[in-house]
Amino acid sequence: MNILKINSSVQQEASVTRKLVEEIITTISKGEVTIVDRDLSKGVSLLNEQMLTAFFSNLEDLKEEQLMLLEESNTYIQEIKEADVIVFGVPIYNFSVPGSVKAYFDLLARAGVTFKYTEQGPVGLMENKKVYVAMASGGVPFDSEVDFASKLIRQFLTFLGITDITFVPADQLMTNQEAALGRARKIIEETVGSV
Ligand SMILES: Cc1cc2nc3c(=O)[nH]c(=O)nc-3n(C[C@H](O)[C@H](O)[C@H](O)COP(=O)(O)O)c2cc1C
Repeated sequence: MNILKINSSVQQEASVTRKLVEEIITTISKGEVTIVDRDLSKGVSLLNEQMLTAFFSNLEDLKEEQLMLLEESNTYIQEIKEADVIVFGVPIYNFSVPGSVKAYFDLLARAGVTFKYTEQGPVGLMENKKVYVAMASGGVPFDSEVDFASKLIRQFLTFLGITDITFVPADQLMTNQEAALGRARKIIEETVGSV
């Protein structure tokens, strides 16, 4: 089984999402597993005009330096393609996802590569993957009307064809940290552990 581990918290030791990501991986790691580690907090390039032009060009028409602009995006896409399971840690920052996660999404959405346009509308091309999303918030209740993070993550992954998504939220940590972690660990035990 190939696991893609994606973290995005800017915190290391103190991070709740990083802890939950490790607990999920431990729970699902039965038998032989390969883990690819992608830490978005180390930096993700922002989409720019040159990259966008390269995204929408035929590969044969691109010059060497334009092909190099595709490399970061190609690496992220390849990592997802090769993964059977993706374990994604995302804290809520300012009611949404960290900027690195949005930048990452902007490099993943490529017409003809990760999704295609059809007469019925866009169709995702990244199928047959299981995703666990470990989330954390200080005060925002998970899936509430002010939680723009989980909605964006669900919509974006579904757009790419990734529909089997399980959220593991440790939300409202500032209200009661023990209770929040308890709720998340119960989901890991009952949902993740039973797969
Ligand atoms: C820059 C920043 C912005 C945050 N914004 C919010 C927010 O809008 N709503 C909220 O409920 N918590 C917010 N928090 C709290 C985090 O979601 C919470 O501390 C969470 O545990 C961070 O994830 P981590 O422990 O994996 O680093 C914010 C924290 C940081 C550092």
